[in-house]
Amino acid sequence: MYVFEFGFNVGQKLREKDTNLDVNKGEILLKEFPDGEFYARVISNIENEDCVVVKSVYNNEELVRAILILDAIKKCKPKSIIIAAPYLVYMRQDKIFLNGEALSAEIVLKELKNYASQIFLINSHNQQFRKKEKFKYMGIEIYNIDAFSEITKYFKNLKNPKVIAPDEGASDTAKECAKILKCESDYLVKIRDRITGKVVTEDKNLGIEGKDVLIADDIISSGGTMIEALKIIRKQNPASINLACVHGVFCDAENFLMLRILADELVATNSIPNKVGKIDLSELIAKELIKNLINK
Ligand code: R5P
Repeated sequence: MYVFEFGFNVGQKLREKDTNLDVNKGEILLKEFPDGEFYARVISNIENEDCVVVKSVYNNEELVRAILILDAIKKCKPKSIIIAAPYLVYMRQDKIFLNGEALSAEIVLKELKNYASQIFLINSHNQQFRKKEKFKYMGIEIYNIDAFSEITKYFKNLKNPKVIAPDEGASDTAKECAKILKCESDYLVKIRDRITGKVVTEDKNLGIEGKDVLIADDIISSGGTMIEALKIIRKQNPASINLACVHGVFCDAENFLMLRILADELVATNSIPNKVGKIDLSELIAKELIKNLINK
């Protein structure tokens, strides 16, 4: 097996496990031409080998880069290609909300299907994938891995925790985290304007005075949802405020700074490279690969 990975350590984690797998590092040359175009060429001899590509696809450029990498691998005639994309762009537009829109999630998945028969995602924001662990979608086997276990591990030493979901959609996840941390959870109610994208969160008594609050969400994009939650939570005198998400997009630099200032801790997984992506997903990805494929 050859593992081509970018910013992760899955190959080594697989090697450390007792699987009798012959795990090799996939060597690939990546270049960028002066005009910004990418180039990819596989160096390893991977003909008739199983290949795993671990790559976060977190923006338009990375999507093009990923496609070139996959195409270079496919042209070397491997036995199989598995994609592990800790973050995959465009999964949020998974249905037509307003007439005339493009269905971005479908386009991206159709493209990946040209190369791989199995795709591992982490807490995909695709509404159709949420809560499902393994399923077929457009002929591709999708594994949607939950990384909240890694977030709760990171916060296992909070003294007097209470988990708050910043919106109703995240309330089940907050409950799960609370179960692991052996504490209570609650959630806020958020309303988002589909046209302007602005969010408003309703005021609510959360019973968090003196508590170490953990506000957990699958994704922080603009940061608007977390800022709204913070406005309500800060007024209620918690002992500390800890913000966590699986995917730290942080597309609004001012909001990102504000979150870092207002919270005692702001942390994300490394599904997207950023300054607070301290929770490494390599071990989780390796475990899931073994569980779902290798031991099958
Ligand atoms: C919403 O359904 C999600 O779970 C997140 O709360 C949301 O996408 C975060 O976006 P933003 O940071 O832009 O408010």
